[in-house]
Amino acid sequence: MDSVHEIAITGQNLPAKYIYTDSINPSQDPSIPLPLLEIPVIDFNRLATPSIGTGEELAPSELERLRSALSSYGYVMVTNHGVESSLMDRVRLVFKQFLALPMEERLKCQKEADGFEGFGSDMMVTKDVPVVHDFSARLRLTTWPEDKRQMKYWPEQPHDFREVLDEYSSKLLVLHDATLGAMARSLSLDDDDSAFLNAVREGGSISARFNFYPPCPTPDRALGLKPHSDGTVITYLLQDGEVEGLQVLKDEQWFRVPIVPDALVLHVGDHLEIMSNGEFKSPVHRVVLNPERQRMSVVIASFPEEGIQIEPLEGLVSGEKPRLYRQVKYSVVDQVGYYWSGTRVTDDARI
Ligand code: OGA
Ligand code: NI
Repeated sequence: MDSVHEIAITGQNLPAKYIYTDSINPSQDPSIPLPLLEIPVIDFNRLATPSIGTGEELAPSELERLRSALSSYGYVMVTNHGVESSLMDRVRLVFKQFLALPMEERLKCQKEADGFEGFGSDMMVTKDVPVVHDFSARLRLTTWPEDKRQMKYWPEQPHDFREVLDEYSSKLLVLHDATLGAMARSLSLDDDDSAFLNAVREGGSISARFNFYPPCPTPDRALGLKPHSDGTVITYLLQDGEVEGLQVLKDEQWFRVPIVPDALVLHVGDHLEIMSNGEFKSPVHRVVLNPERQRMSVVIASFPEEGIQIEPLEGLVSGEKPRLYRQVKYSVVDQVGYYWSGTRVTDDARI
């Protein structure tokens, strides 16, 4: 079965493949804790409300605050998103229950070595390049479109896992679509609210990724996820309710992302950065480990259709805003390659 999980259960020392020989924070004094990020909070309900006030006192609308946050850093906390906190708790609970199952039960959902779906560690594609592995395991399941669901990887235990994921993913689908619509509106793509959404709705997909980070005896020498930006369109992250771990790179410094109960973290993905002609930034982030406590998170992320060409939307290219990216073909395998080699599709696409 998945080695990360077994190491965590047996408490054995970390094998060399997970160990960074340089400190993971070479530029920082480890005795000084990293600062907490001041992450902009967006009230989803207010995105449809125009600016309040008149003249000079005009407060920026929520839509303008969204645009500004995504243009500078690429992430926000979203509140009033329409997902009840009881459902968020149930999502966390069914995954915890899945992790606690006997090994033979978890094995039923095991990912194949060269596959994408199921439970295990991510596929490796750069076999010739030595890389440090992430000390984490994930259960990845396509949730939309429904006819692309591979039910054999959907846990049958705990008994309500499928029902909870079905409910959560349908709520997140509504939120996802509304978010991409608001993003298009915030850039005044008025005549076409669905400009970004089309990239997902026309042949793309949405998947859930349940991340599990075991306690790690040497958290200064290993990472849950290495620094990366998401090779997605957008990513919605449900954090662990108690254990921190997500960090983002801002102005070349790492910041801890706080736990805000009931909020969801929204990240711009690399493909949205390209489609928005760089108006929105795809943030670099990583996951650090905790010496005593396990952590989990649940990601819902959207992807373009395999093989489709991604490029800046015409409406966002002008004399003042020259085209920043060339056309790039979306490929899952390329995305995995970028991840392992610590590179990004946006670097390849940049003109
Ligand atoms: C990811 C990711 C962050 C987290 O799955 O791409 O960045 O907190 N997860 O688990
Ligand atoms: Ni990520």
